[in-house]
Amino acid sequence: MSSTPFPFPTLPAGFTLGAATSAAQIEGTAPDDGKGPSIWDAFCATPGKIKDGSDITVACDHLHRMPEDVERMQWLGLDAYRFSFAWPRVQPLGQGAWNEKGFAFYDRLIDTLLAKGISPHATLHHWDLPQALQESVGGWQSRETAHRFADYAAEIARRFGDRLAAIATLNEPWCVATLGYERGQFAPGLKDRRAAMQVSHHLLLGHGLALQAMRALAPKAQLGIVLNHTPAVAAEKTHADQQAARLFDGLDVRWYMDPIFRGAYPADAVEHLGADAPVVEPGDMALIRQPLDFLGINLYTRHWTSTAVPPIPAPAPNGVNDMGWEIVPDILTQHLVRITRDYMPPPILITENGMANADVVSADGAIEDTPRVAYLQGHLAAVQKAIAMGADVRGYFYWSLLDNFEWDSGYAKRFGLFRVDYATQARTP
Ligand code: FCB
Repeated sequence: MSSTPFPFPTLPAGFTLGAATSAAQIEGTAPDDGKGPSIWDAFCATPGKIKDGSDITVACDHLHRMPEDVERMQWLGLDAYRFSFAWPRVQPLGQGAWNEKGFAFYDRLIDTLLAKGISPHATLHHWDLPQALQESVGGWQSRETAHRFADYAAEIARRFGDRLAAIATLNEPWCVATLGYERGQFAPGLKDRRAAMQVSHHLLLGHGLALQAMRALAPKAQLGIVLNHTPAVAAEKTHADQQAARLFDGLDVRWYMDPIFRGAYPADAVEHLGADAPVVEPGDMALIRQPLDFLGINLYTRHWTSTAVPPIPAPAPNGVNDMGWEIVPDILTQHLVRITRDYMPPPILITENGMANADVVSADGAIEDTPRVAYLQGHLAAVQKAIAMGADVRGYFYWSLLDNFEWDSGYAKRFGLFRVDYATQARTP
């Protein structure tokens, strides 16, 4: 990225700059390739769940356009690419038979990346759980799914462990549990807090079991997890606002960081949950608290906590992106410094950070991407600052390479470094 025409923050030598995507959001689900349905196929088919009524059958058609998309990564000068394996593409039912056509696609993707000098960073579970597991055992509500996940992780490590630079077990377990099982906003669409908290535990258990299974099989790949952190800030210095911010932090940041780095759920959050706290079996916490080679952090914005009626709005000057998310680069610095102090984590990768923007396409077809450039500059400068303050950040992946299926928002939100015209599949930088 050295030839960029705008001032780029100076990052340490060896710092990795990449872009990220996920399978369900870009690949498309060609009917003849043997992929099994995921919970997102089922969710899209449920009327009213996706705001623009769209689905993931075509998405960015990356399945057929992978070589040209990798060329775009090379053109951008990316050091690394973060993608996810679709579990139901390689194991249609989530257990039993493997789909060789599915493995062949990822095999080609990895080889194409390596041939262009781009490091492959894989994620095993970016939300597209095989629908068969949802139907048979209730998905992550069952411990069974954690064991099936570990089998799948082992198979990926066995086949690709020698060629992947990094493997993350889960992407954003908070979103899976809270948005998927408590708020009904994401697949599978449940609204049950008790279930959601048990799901959070099974996800972490699956992470631990998968790490254990992969260690011996993928000695060269860095193993880790990707967590989404939305730092909570009290709107006013009142006790109520500060308590609310602390609780949000307990159920978002500390709910996943404490078990992984300290071997216990945060006591204040457990107390708050009462009967909704998860059932933990003997030995679970030791499995969850295993050494990691890297910690992936996805950070987009902060959570402004106001208990006032009406609530105190976040300060206007910061601006918001097209998702309505406040843009505050400083939060990234503060948060990286905080988790370094509180957890002494392994090397950190910013595995996602980015903004949705309603691009304006000019008459000549070009897109003047000034707001996104400013976002990127601001957040890379924030990373640089955190490094200077002692945080061991080794890389940054922009979300996303391409505009894509933004979950319940459908195709309406554009995060891409490349704009995608969904009628023609043309990509414009
Ligand atoms: C994250 C998801 C990613 C994308 C961005 C905008 O929560 O991991 O798939 O949707 O948000």
